[in-house]
Amino acid sequence: MEELDRKLLLDIVLNNLDKGMAIINRNGEFIYYNRKIAELEGFEPEEVLGHHLQEMFPTDESSMLNVLENGIPIYNSLQEYINKNGKKIFSMVTDVPIISEGEIEGVVEFVHDIDQIKQIYQAIQSFEKSIDSVKRTKNDGMKKLHEFKDYKTLNFELLELLKKIEKLSLSRSNVLIYGETGTGKEIIAQSIHTSSERKNKPFVAQNCAAIPETLLESILFGTVKGSFTGSIERKGLFEKADGGTLLLDELNSMPMHLQSKLLRVIQEGYIRRVGGSSEIKVDVRVVATVNADPNVLIENCKLREDLFYRLSIISIYVPPLRSRSEDIEYLSKLFIDAENKFKNMNLKLSHEVLELFNTYDWKGNVRELKNIIESACNVAGDDKYIKLEHLPCYLIERLRSRNLLSDDNQVKSSYSDMVESFEKGIISEMLKKTEGNVSKASKLLKIKRQTLQHKIKKLNIR
Ligand SMILES: Nc1ncnc2c1ncn2[C@@H]1O[C@H](COP(=O)(O)OP(=O)(O)OP(=O)(O)O)[C@@H](O)[C@H]1O
Ligand SMILES: [Mg+2]
Repeated sequence: MEELDRKLLLDIVLNNLDKGMAIINRNGEFIYYNRKIAELEGFEPEEVLGHHLQEMFPTDESSMLNVLENGIPIYNSLQEYINKNGKKIFSMVTDVPIISEGEIEGVVEFVHDIDQIKQIYQAIQSFEKSIDSVKRTKNDGMKKLHEFKDYKTLNFELLELLKKIEKLSLSRSNVLIYGETGTGKEIIAQSIHTSSERKNKPFVAQNCAAIPETLLESILFGTVKGSFTGSIERKGLFEKADGGTLLLDELNSMPMHLQSKLLRVIQEGYIRRVGGSSEIKVDVRVVATVNADPNVLIENCKLREDLFYRLSIISIYVPPLRSRSEDIEYLSKLFIDAENKFKNMNLKLSHEVLELFNTYDWKGNVRELKNIIESACNVAGDDKYIKLEHLPCYLIERLRSRNLLSDDNQVKSSYSDMVESFEKGIISEMLKKTEGNVSKASKLLKIKRQTLQHKIKKLNIR
């Protein structure tokens, strides 16, 4: 290709990147400044090109100049600054020296806009919330509630326990489920509901840690009009769950005074709305979860002992994934099969990855395993096996820091690989949620449909 064409091509590519990019020469003068970085920093490329960095950004501490001086790259450093237009910019920056024949010839800087990442996360979160509210009111809505058969395990003790619980589901006893995050407590809670006589009544779930203490009481018990400024006549979750099941997640985050009110409601079967005086009869089975040993929680005054006894008529301990070694391979294969089916692929787990999985501590338990498999399947694309290089960067870093990854099988991921796999993960997740509807996904991600379409193609997302 002609020299001119190459330049033109490079210009088109770099100016259409959604990452900011700038290059300074050995004198600290800008020789490249793409459109995205201009947008972030509030300059026009023409204003910047040819000028010294200090002239444009007078500062004592410039990562680009540091790299120009010592030749040591900086990866993914978080930076916060005010741009030319007075806007606060929060970004993730990588600075790489250009070294030729042992001399530092300049520095290339890549800037990732954290606000953009935040927006995508917020879009995902608000989408999840909307699903949650559907789940609350319509059991047969978008997402079917789980049944015991959805809880997959080869662990003998757990299988025996689940069989017992399934039988006990028919009783009206309250339940306490204790287990680390991601061990499948919600699946069990939903299954108890769907195996009970309450299955056609509402299943309402509330995470006690997710809302401020002051609001929790009105959310649980409802409010009467005028009881405090702006309050309206509103049913609480107990009334919404009447006849059905109320799942109170992370009960140990509920303040102690509210735990005593909860105990009273469970004992008496009546609630009183905040600010109200009349008692309203409710028939609700409470399933509560805690993510630490209840005895320790009681000792640390995070859980009332009397409430614990009242709830733990049926008590379930779900062991963490690391102590269920038989489940690691079993669940990995199940999740890969599901991805294969979804994307019409035939991926398998490589031995090296399985070996690592068996030694990893799985702090996020089955949720973490499931997410890692989903992400690795996306990254592996047309490969036959899920290999080390398909695993998310955070896992590689953790494995390295725990010396679970030897030097000779270290995975080398470049900055752009990391960004690419991150983007791929977010987009695939959103497409899954919108059942492949690109228009819906683009709205939720707040990007143009064409941009999303282009990314799907570029990132080879099925
Ligand atoms: N045994 C299992 N079989 C199949 N999927 C599972 C299993 N355990 C967990 N999962 C999956 O892992 C994810 C997390 O499960 P769940 O939400 O039930 O965990 P949790 O214990 O309630 O976590 P948290 O304490 O963070 O709320 C879900 O996607 C769930 O489907
Ligand atoms: Mg849960």
